[in-house]
Amino acid sequence: MALPLPGTPIIIDIGSAYVKIGFAGEPGPRFVFPCITGTEKYKSVMVDVSARSIYVGNDVSRMRGVLKIKHPIIRGEIMDWDSYYEILNYIFYSLLRIEDLSIYPVFYCESPFMHKETKEFIARVFFETHQVRSLIMMPTPLLSLFSVGLTSGLVIESGDGLTWIVPIINGTIIQHAVQKLHLAGVDVNHNLKSLLMREGISITSSAADEILQDIKEKNCYFVLDPNKPPKTGEMFSVPMPDGSVIKVPTYILFQAPEVLFNPGMLGYGNVMNIPQGIIECLRGIDNHYWHDLLSHIVFSGGNLSYSGFQERFESELDPLLPQLGKIPKPVAPLSAVKSELIKLQAVEISKKKEDTCPHCGAFIHLSDEIELCPSCEGVLVLPEIKIKTLGEDKQKIKEIGKCTHCNKDIADTESLFCPYCGKPIDSFKTVDKPEEIIEKTPAQEFSEFMESATKILKFFIPDNLQFAIFNGAAILGSLPSFQQLFITYDQFQTNRELLYRDISEIL
Ligand SMILES: Nc1ncnc2c1ncn2[C@@H]1O[C@H](COP(=O)(O)OP(=O)(O)OP(=O)(O)O)[C@@H](O)[C@H]1O
Ligand SMILES: [Mg+2]
Repeated sequence: MALPLPGTPIIIDIGSAYVKIGFAGEPGPRFVFPCITGTEKYKSVMVDVSARSIYVGNDVSRMRGVLKIKHPIIRGEIMDWDSYYEILNYIFYSLLRIEDLSIYPVFYCESPFMHKETKEFIARVFFETHQVRSLIMMPTPLLSLFSVGLTSGLVIESGDGLTWIVPIINGTIIQHAVQKLHLAGVDVNHNLKSLLMREGISITSSAADEILQDIKEKNCYFVLDPNKPPKTGEMFSVPMPDGSVIKVPTYILFQAPEVLFNPGMLGYGNVMNIPQGIIECLRGIDNHYWHDLLSHIVFSGGNLSYSGFQERFESELDPLLPQLGKIPKPVAPLSAVKSELIKLQAVEISKKKEDTCPHCGAFIHLSDEIELCPSCEGVLVLPEIKIKTLGEDKQKIKEIGKCTHCNKDIADTESLFCPYCGKPIDSFKTVDKPEEIIEKTPAQEFSEFMESATKILKFFIPDNLQFAIFNGAAILGSLPSFQQLFITYDQFQTNRELLYRDISEIL
């Protein structure tokens, strides 16, 4: 695929499990690869003269038998800088193949509360080692929020290593109330492994971790009430990469992710689960914001992709809400959030009118129809972005599924099991229903607290949870007004504080 025009920000989201890479204005990452590196275990095995001494991403997965594998990022922290540098080299020079980085800005998705020294060190690596044109680094929860077109909300971001609960008001993170939970995708992997081992199933392969992760991602789901699990068949067949099949007791498929609501399963006595983390978070915030935050809950991160997660999450959070006491009427009504979104969209409409060709450097007047450079005839890729508006969403029709056994609506048509009755889904009855990222209900009077509590909760769920952060960055990075906030090396050297600029100023 051709490189987009110079000046289009490169988006870099390096997670504990997966690295997502692409360009602003594009609908998803161009490259997604596991965040692993490998070095040769046995030098003599690598006879190929072109063999490198360090491998990255999918190459490591392919050659894992002969490599010593490292996970450079653990629970969001960079633990192995050499591997981290190799990942950056791999991104720029093997995947994107950009010869001259001085014409591309970098949009770096940074994990929340990154140490000042780490942040500035990463900035120096981009400027001094890779000589990028300019840089911006933004905390991932803001990007998750923008991915659904909001500037205020309660972001639940759960990847492989960490779960963050982050309240954001008008584009500003309420830092002191943020909750960081050491409970995420990797813990579900551990639970799955231990449940399988208890059943005498041990996967003996150098790729055991990947196989487990794959079983989890394709088959695990949440039931509504783990104390009354649905009656399902005894065994579920899971094909292995070598063509063999293992039989997994079906209860394991819904027990493994239970650790997210019950961390005690893995012996984590003092770790809060996500609903408890939300109550703790709200306790740290003026209660006049509670209603607004609870009615703008944003999910993000691959670890929340399970079928049945939202329904189960609601049923776990709802009974905890009375612990907060009274929830006053909202200070900022929904309309305020909408108008911010409209502003964001209005800025987006003004597109670049001219630029230089990425192939020959000729100056080009851009129009919607132009596809080839008039001088060298190189293919031009114009960034194009569309931000969802609430109105648009209501008009859009999305197919949702109905379980053929219990007739309940199931949002996840990829799901293998129904989260309500637990029966395997062979086919879906489909019904047309407007896709609503907001389920709109009128604000409730507090006098009917117990009845209204359930109705306060409203969810904003991006189409692709795992790429929500990337997509938020792709939207924001394509706005000309936002691009002005990127800093150059000269600016960084004269005033490092520019790296911490408050982006709420453009909202
Ligand atoms: N369909 C799915 N069902 C369940 N889990 C999934 C699914 N898809 C991805 N995951 C899990 O989500 C996690 C990866 O999500 P994500 O890419 O958001 O995390 P990350 O950015 O690598 O990690 P972090 O942000 O914590 O550093 C992994 O644990 C992965 O197994
Ligand atoms: Mg992540």
